[in-house]
Amino acid sequence: MLRLFSPAKVNLFLLVVGKRPDGYHDLASLFQTITLGDTLEYELSDKDVLTCTDPTLPTDASNLVLKAASLFRSKTGIKIGLKINLDKKIPSQAGLGGGSSNAASTLWAFNKLTGCPASVKELQQWGGEIGSDVPFFFSEGTALCEGRGEKVHPLPSLESAPFWIAKPKSGCSTPAVFKRLRLDEMHQPQLVIENLLDPISYHNDLEIPAFEINPELKKLKEILLKSGFQTVLMTGSGSAFFCMGSLSSFPSIPDVSYYAVQFLNRKSDDWYRI
Ligand code: C5P
Repeated sequence: MLRLFSPAKVNLFLLVVGKRPDGYHDLASLFQTITLGDTLEYELSDKDVLTCTDPTLPTDASNLVLKAASLFRSKTGIKIGLKINLDKKIPSQAGLGGGSSNAASTLWAFNKLTGCPASVKELQQWGGEIGSDVPFFFSEGTALCEGRGEKVHPLPSLESAPFWIAKPKSGCSTPAVFKRLRLDEMHQPQLVIENLLDPISYHNDLEIPAFEINPELKKLKEILLKSGFQTVLMTGSGSAFFCMGSLSSFPSIPDVSYYAVQFLNRKSDDWYRI
């Protein structure tokens, strides 16, 4: 049996730089894995079986974990199945990349359990067929991602003080948030991405459309900033925020859960560990 930690991610900045003919958007985003994550257990089996501690999540072929298992078989020609248990801790519809991380972990696990027929580069490329955020997880945890997310430029790990994830009960639909985005009202042809890296310029172009769809998110950001956090930024297409800065106690807001986290990076020859 192989047990893997499957980390969430945050987008320390996320710029939408254009709309593509295929309907996706070109992004420039600084991705970072964090210590909040799920645990997956894998065993080779005669057929695929997925169990999950969260009964609200589908465990059929629509789950990205099983999509990753099928994709690995179709790419390698390997015929065996995978028995998987997913201990879910990453909230869904949060912009934390939980499903994408689980898919990446599954590609890594299937490869490991079958004697590593594929390189990490191949796993990363195949991951892009499952979802835009999947290739990032094959970096070592800090990367500038461009295109749909599939152009991954690894960066050295960043200093991390502990910080918080604040997740309201309501979630965000990624397609709905991208659909609401009005590219002509965005700013940045003049922005030079390298200038956003040092110091990190915390900014997310998806906040405006997400706040239009759910005005409660804007109010939550304001409350979190008023309570003393220096930086409060929505991650991905929301609805979670990361909150940085020293604070003796955070505000107790109904239906908001907090998670204490730090940045996490993996070693080049190993998967993520906490
Ligand atoms: O690739 P993924 O399945 O995660 O994307 C979900 C949806 O988010 C896409 O169908 C698309 O509407 C939107 N999206 C986008 N541009 C991206 C990533 C996602 O428009 N770079």
